[in-house]
Amino acid sequence: MHIKSKLLLALLPLFFVLSLLATPATHSKQAPNVEARVNALLARMTLEEKLGQLQQLDGEGSGDFRPEHLELIRKGLLGSTLNVRGAKRTNQLQHVAVEESRLKIPNLFGYDVIHGYRTIFPIPLAEAASWDPTLAERSASIAASETYAAGVRWTFAPMVDIARDPRWGRITEGAGEDPFLGAAFARARVLGFQGRDYSERNKVLACAKHFVGYGAAEGGRDYNTTDMSEQTLREIYLPPFHAAVDAGVGTLMSAFNDLNGVPTSANPFTLTKVLRGEWKFDGFVVSDYTSVNELKNHGLAANDKDAAEAALNAGVDMEMVSRLFNQNVPALLKEGKVSQATIDEAVKRILRIKFRLGLFEHPYADEAAEKGAILTAANRTAAREAAERSMVLLKNDRETLPLNKNVGSLAVIGPLADDSRAPLGWWSGDGKDTDTVTALAGIKAKVSPQTKVTYAKGCDVLGDSDAGFAEAVASARQADVALVFVGEAKEMVGEAASRSTLDLPGRQMDLVKAIQATGKPTIVVLINGRPPTIGWIVENVPAVLEAWMAGTEGGNAIADVLFGDVNPGGKLPVTFPRTVGQVPIYYNHMNTGRPPEPSTRYNSKYLDLPWTPQFPFGFGLSYTQFKITNLQLSDASIARNGQLKVSVEVQNVGKRAGDQVVQLYIRDIAASMTRPVKELKGFKRISLKPGETQRIEFTLGPEHLGFYNREMKYVVEAGEFKVMVGSSSEDVIEKSFEVK
Ligand code: NOJ
Repeated sequence: MHIKSKLLLALLPLFFVLSLLATPATHSKQAPNVEARVNALLARMTLEEKLGQLQQLDGEGSGDFRPEHLELIRKGLLGSTLNVRGAKRTNQLQHVAVEESRLKIPNLFGYDVIHGYRTIFPIPLAEAASWDPTLAERSASIAASETYAAGVRWTFAPMVDIARDPRWGRITEGAGEDPFLGAAFARARVLGFQGRDYSERNKVLACAKHFVGYGAAEGGRDYNTTDMSEQTLREIYLPPFHAAVDAGVGTLMSAFNDLNGVPTSANPFTLTKVLRGEWKFDGFVVSDYTSVNELKNHGLAANDKDAAEAALNAGVDMEMVSRLFNQNVPALLKEGKVSQATIDEAVKRILRIKFRLGLFEHPYADEAAEKGAILTAANRTAAREAAERSMVLLKNDRETLPLNKNVGSLAVIGPLADDSRAPLGWWSGDGKDTDTVTALAGIKAKVSPQTKVTYAKGCDVLGDSDAGFAEAVASARQADVALVFVGEAKEMVGEAASRSTLDLPGRQMDLVKAIQATGKPTIVVLINGRPPTIGWIVENVPAVLEAWMAGTEGGNAIADVLFGDVNPGGKLPVTFPRTVGQVPIYYNHMNTGRPPEPSTRYNSKYLDLPWTPQFPFGFGLSYTQFKITNLQLSDASIARNGQLKVSVEVQNVGKRAGDQVVQLYIRDIAASMTRPVKELKGFKRISLKPGETQRIEFTLGPEHLGFYNREMKYVVEAGEFKVMVGSSSEDVIEKSFEVK
């Protein structure tokens, strides 16, 4: 192909996320003179007390602290705990820190509040399917208020790892495969947790994790090696972190993985050069759980002392659970392997955040207010709405859905129909099964009093027994409609939950086949935390709803969608493959010299599969239909630092009100580095009444059109670009423009 000669324009890398930063970063207004207070306090600290601030230790599974914590805190040798929670317990420990320790530095209580504290919202991947960052901001803000009430002031969230491999169980915790969507959700979640000022009541400190590349673990095996070009790192994996930093996130967590030969918990390039140098981050970095100690297993450190030296010098400030900083830094300091300045800098970063958080002014939780702040009716309503907006309709032949509430009889079938654990997903905070509205309960509450609802489990999620099939088949035969709930159990997703197959586990696919064989209209509802491979279902079952692990109110939300009180409008934030063998498969891939095509053998595809995925990124149906037409560009060409307005007309041509997520993609046709076939650069979720038309406008600028060149400079190059707008990454209309 002819490559045009192109001029380079170096731009600040900052441009890359500028579009996401319409609102200013969070900061603390209520904590004045922070730097002066940090310095004054530091000047009074002994080396032991300084190292104490760098230490975080784990509480009991129950949420209690350990007796040892009291002792360490009293002596000023512990700065933070994780998992200790509850207003009374945190206060007990805090009184010791504030009243009995020499310097009265409050303890910082951290906890994994990923998608809810007690009121559990849909898993983060599901919320990303809403393509509505304001929804995630609201969920995070409610989660923050419950967390605050429980005496916890710091959440280890948002998890902003890009994931292109659904075998990796932690895909459930992030926003999917795309850096632009991921950055928008990262920013929204930081704002939700921290607000504009995280020293305010009901706000908590956020922690963007896992820095960085953790989602690229080889083979989807958790904790595994990652190896990637700096371009890929900067263009795919770093943007959500950069967005979080620009949104004012107070802390980051270094990850478990090895990145290009240097584990991320001892990686000076990412932790210092990029994070501090380029992004000017002035908060602190906490290591992931024992990841400093694990540097020995990685083979980066021969012993504990080497590990402490590598992590601290690279830019880790606080060590989670292992105690190598505490045990080895005094000797390292004597030997000149760690400088006093490095230690002081780490302490200052931690104290700075404690001051900004207002922890010195308000160290205690309000024990009387705790109960009333948690699992409120309003919080549950918000969780239900979030779940409704997260659901993705994957198939709906002959308007099988929505169902009529007056339907004569319904057979509710499947191991996840009445499961109260799976909907909570992984990292469900203090969420309780007993709070969950299951799908069965939601359906029963929704249908008319005359509707007969039967329930048959059919089989378990795992295991090979089909002993329950006969009952399930009989119930389907006697009903007007069969609803089959299949997917994954709670423990099958999240940390240390990699899977080598994406098929429905156990006998679930056989159960669906048996129900479908009855000839009754069959609807499959998926309750899962990662893209599944469900080819048979897509080919044979008339309606499929991706409901995800939808949280405490999941069952009500599912019923709202199944019976048409809510018209589903979610879109996939991640590609659904046909088979696990297609993985990794993602929409924003590079082209090859031999793009797939059917007529010849010698191009990039499998012999035994179409090259397309089961469902593309951005895909999702509605109970109504939309037309996207009349793509207009403000100019035929723009300057390299210029802006282009792109607009389309969106019309609801169906009979119901509904939502469409209008998506804008670009392609840089030829450049000095190969560019993805498509890159998401804008999206908007809109609601339209039947017959209503709206013109949607996007603005493209240098922050969207550039990339990192061979010299690792962010540049916009002259040449032809394609702009594509549509309802998914595959369903688009397009035009071209020139950058001059
Ligand atoms: C390990 C996980 O990787 C991380 O995400 C979590 O925040 C910590 N454990 C603390 O629970």
